[in-house]
Amino acid sequence: MRWKLHEAAAAVIDSCSYIGGEEVRCFERELPEWLGVAEACGTGCATFGLFAAVRSLGIGPGDEVLTTVHTAIPTAEAITLSGARVIFCDIDPHTFNIDPEDLRDRITERTKAVVVHLYGQPADLDRVMETAREAGPKVIEDCAQALGARYKARYAGTLGDVGVFSFFPSKPLGGFGDGGAVIARDPGRLKWIRMFSNHGREEKYVHQFEGTNSRLDAIQAALLRVCLPHLEEWNRLRRKAARTYTERLSAVEEVQVPAETPGAEPVYPAYCIVVPDRDDLRRTSRRGRCPPGFTIPFRCICSRPTPIGAGCRGIFRGRNTLAGTCFLCRCFPGSRRRKSGTYATV
Ligand SMILES: Cc1ncc(COP(=O)(O)O)c(C=O)c1O
Repeated sequence: MRWKLHEAAAAVIDSCSYIGGEEVRCFERELPEWLGVAEACGTGCATFGLFAAVRSLGIGPGDEVLTTVHTAIPTAEAITLSGARVIFCDIDPHTFNIDPEDLRDRITERTKAVVVHLYGQPADLDRVMETAREAGPKVIEDCAQALGARYKARYAGTLGDVGVFSFFPSKPLGGFGDGGAVIARDPGRLKWIRMFSNHGREEKYVHQFEGTNSRLDAIQAALLRVCLPHLEEWNRLRRKAARTYTERLSAVEEVQVPAETPGAEPVYPAYCIVVPDRDDLRRTSRRGRCPPGFTIPFRCICSRPTPIGAGCRGIFRGRNTLAGTCFLCRCFPGSRRRKSGTYATV
């Protein structure tokens, strides 16, 4: 594989075609084929993809978009950058994903969309989609961590109105720098996103509206094409490592292991556990006696004075059970049974 990557990169360098071109076109054909959808648009990163998704839905100042209080900051940034207000919903403390009841309670006439998914685990999409159908908001699937995860046998990203993927190196299809892709149920919406990511144009120098620049690089596309055929196997190995963690850690009283959303088949870019003293676990992890892992300071999502913090209203019982206690164990395809099993017994 190493040589294939070198060859792919060298071929792009020799081609002198660095922006768009054949590699991007091929990747934009192969990714949707893999997902079983009609088309995809490569982007510079998923943060932009989410922002473009929000904008493509006509969302802006005066509108509200829901997501969860326990998510990565880019999910919230994509909303506030559009001028809309982010409204945080609570999470289910077992799956770490959106609490469908709380989602329903926070919908107002200003709510235009909801952004879901975390840790490679699809949210309870039946209930999210039902609420969306009844109350009107569009569903944006933030699949930055969830390429290849399934919900009721369909790939995450293909069920909502827009699906967004990241190729940041730690993601299921980790690239060699930044990169992302977007799919959409409505071809017109995807066309708009493609143009928005390319200065508002389809044709060179013919700018139809104000856009920006966030395209998938040709060299990145070439490297991702080498990796894509391995994704199913890598995801299988991630699931296997997660199963090993679950088998071994379920018996440890102090550790809460992640529950899977009914009907979901997650991919585990990381395996999130809840422990009483995560700082102690992090120190142990640094000494190599437990899985290499990391922690996220959850205060950041509600930090003020950014516009993001303003959406942190109300009580978040589910989030509070996790704040300061969750630890993300690395779950890369190389975490073989023996290794994760050893870690899990420490
Ligand atoms: C849930 C989630 N959404 C969005 C992003 C943003 O992805 P990118 O780094 O490609 O912009 C990330 C990346 O960490 C993420 O984890």
